[in-house]
Amino acid sequence: MNGQTDQDLEERAHIPVLLQEVIEALDVRPGLTYVDATAGAGGHLAAIDKITQGKSKLFAFDRDQTSLDKLRESFSDRATMVHSNFRYLKEALAQYDVNTVDGGILADLGVSSMQLDQGERGFSFQKAGPLDMRMDRSEANSAWHIVNQWPEGALADIIYKYGEERHSRKIANRIAANRPIDTTLHLAEIVARCLPRSSDKKNGKKSFGSAGGGYIHPATRTFQAIRMAVNEELESLEDFLRESLSILKPGARLVVITFHSLEDRIVKQFFRTAAASCVCPPRAPVCTCQKECEVLIITRKPITASDDELLANTRSRSAKLRAAQKLI
Ligand SMILES: C[S@@+](CC[C@H](N)C(=O)[O-])C[C@H]1O[C@@H](n2cnc3c(N)ncnc32)[C@H](O)[C@@H]1O
Repeated sequence: MNGQTDQDLEERAHIPVLLQEVIEALDVRPGLTYVDATAGAGGHLAAIDKITQGKSKLFAFDRDQTSLDKLRESFSDRATMVHSNFRYLKEALAQYDVNTVDGGILADLGVSSMQLDQGERGFSFQKAGPLDMRMDRSEANSAWHIVNQWPEGALADIIYKYGEERHSRKIANRIAANRPIDTTLHLAEIVARCLPRSSDKKNGKKSFGSAGGGYIHPATRTFQAIRMAVNEELESLEDFLRESLSILKPGARLVVITFHSLEDRIVKQFFRTAAASCVCPPRAPVCTCQKECEVLIITRKPITASDDELLANTRSRSAKLRAAQKLI
């Protein structure tokens, strides 16, 4: 099963994942500028704020205006709230006359429990609501458009690719046959009818095609896939990494927490390429690329949650933290 499931999030209130590890990886110090690109409920931001004691410039990005409105209440003027997709990081910071970041940039990907808790946002397969799933509700396309207007083949492809769902073709076929589908619960019910029920002896519960044996709600993978497509999450991540690298000052850090294997692969590959001092084809007789090593990878292997954190926070189960330091 890939990454964090929305089911993990629905089980608990939001607790920041890998909090101590984030602080160490960012090497937080008063006086430097930090950007939390995914401020959410402000857990990581509060920890950075505590260390920097009002002596740093803090920027809190979120593409969800509701999250920012709540954060503004608790942070008042100690952090600048920026309503933007982090894929436009440079342009958004330029509006505050910030053209370099000397401390670090953090991204803790995915949705927050606050977003999942609100049925009307349409993220939850367990709460009644419209098929929305937009993190930024000012954007045009919602889950409704994908579910009701995409060709069946394209729908099957994203359910397979982003959801790693073996039954993607059948699910897409049943979705197309049942259109229009207007609500989360209607979609969840259609998906559930596509998956074979098998007995999960380990937990004494019915499981729906769960490879690992744990109980996985039948709609988990499909909802995750549609959410990732609605919000163009992988494309945004790729843009964000490029923008971050170009705005960080030498010595500053970039820290990313992923919950999905495709996200982690993008970050790992990006760091590898940035750390390489040559990207010529392996058989090239001499180096002609003139590439320089741009970052030092701080985490050779991704950092994952400790046993204690795993017990305290189910969301940490699939979290992977990777960090790099800008060199030039
Ligand atoms: C997992 S939560 C972050 C939680 C936060 N670190 C905390 O400690 O409370 C992810 C947040 O990032 C936001 N987000 C996801 N993708 C984004 C993007 N491309 N640009 C800006 N914000 C994004 C979501 O709206 C959500 O509020």
